Amino acid sequence: MNAALEVRGIVKRFGATHVLRGVDLHVAQGERHALIGPNGAGKSTLFDLISGRARPDDGRIVANGADITGKPPQRVSRWLARSFQTTSVFGGLSVLDNLRCAALGAASSSVIDRWLPSRRVDDRAHAMLDAIGLAARADDLAARLTYAEQRALDLGIALATDAPLILLDEPTAGMNRAEATRALDLIRTTTQGRTLLVIEHDMDAVFNLADRISVLVRGRVIASDTPAAIRANHDVQDAYLGGVAS
Ligand SMILES: Nc1ncnc2c1ncn2[C@@H]1O[C@H](COP(=O)(O)OP(=O)(O)O)[C@@H](O)[C@H]1O
Ligand SMILES: [Mg+2]
Repeated sequence: MNAALEVRGIVKRFGATHVLRGVDLHVAQGERHALIGPNGAGKSTLFDLISGRARPDDGRIVANGADITGKPPQRVSRWLARSFQTTSVFGGLSVLDNLRCAALGAASSSVIDRWLPSRRVDDRAHAMLDAIGLAARADDLAARLTYAEQRALDLGIALATDAPLILLDEPTAGMNRAEATRALDLIRTTTQGRTLLVIEHDMDAVFNLADRISVLVRGRVIASDTPAAIRANHDVQDAYLGGVAS
């Protein structure tokens, strides 16, 4: 079976700054994979390259067997959906309309699906509304949601597409402990049957959620393994975990 995501030798420079220096990453189908590493390590940049927001200077990115290297977001949305480090909902639209837009975008990503009846778009938006626990806020403007609710909506927008691979960039950043726990439960249940690649700083969350963890330090993946093996890895402890693990 093809890997959900195969990243090989990815290099990215911004002028003289060498951000990614040959990143390799393998994410199996159905896996929940966490990407961790210090601030500035290049994690969000790697997401930009995978999701087509920027082009790598070298290397290859293959999703579900399809080479998506350097393809723009609208060409890769069939394979993957992502959320951003900062919330990106449409504040002036209702919660339900945000999800309708996402479902509609997914529907129009291929010629055949363009004829998806609006009823199906609506059904999908409502199903996601229930899944993210915002049914009671369906008609409220997204701008009026709490921060944690907006992040839940971000997740719903990513998941309302059909994409089999979901990329989440720091989904619990800025949340208190209770909100983060709830968000992680939500991520666990709503990504069932899909593949997840998540950037996360909260190590308790990472070790609870992930099947495998990759550690990005100074533009290279220095380890990629099970949570237990990552916890015991001396290079990882020296480079990262020593500073953040409880
Ligand atoms: N568009 C850009 N132009 C210049 N430098 C950038 C750009 N995007 C990111 N960087 C730099 O790349 C490095 C990695 O950033 P980032 O990928 O956001 O790290 P992380 O998400 O791991 O904290 C940082 O030093 C950042 O300043
Ligand atoms: Mg980042």
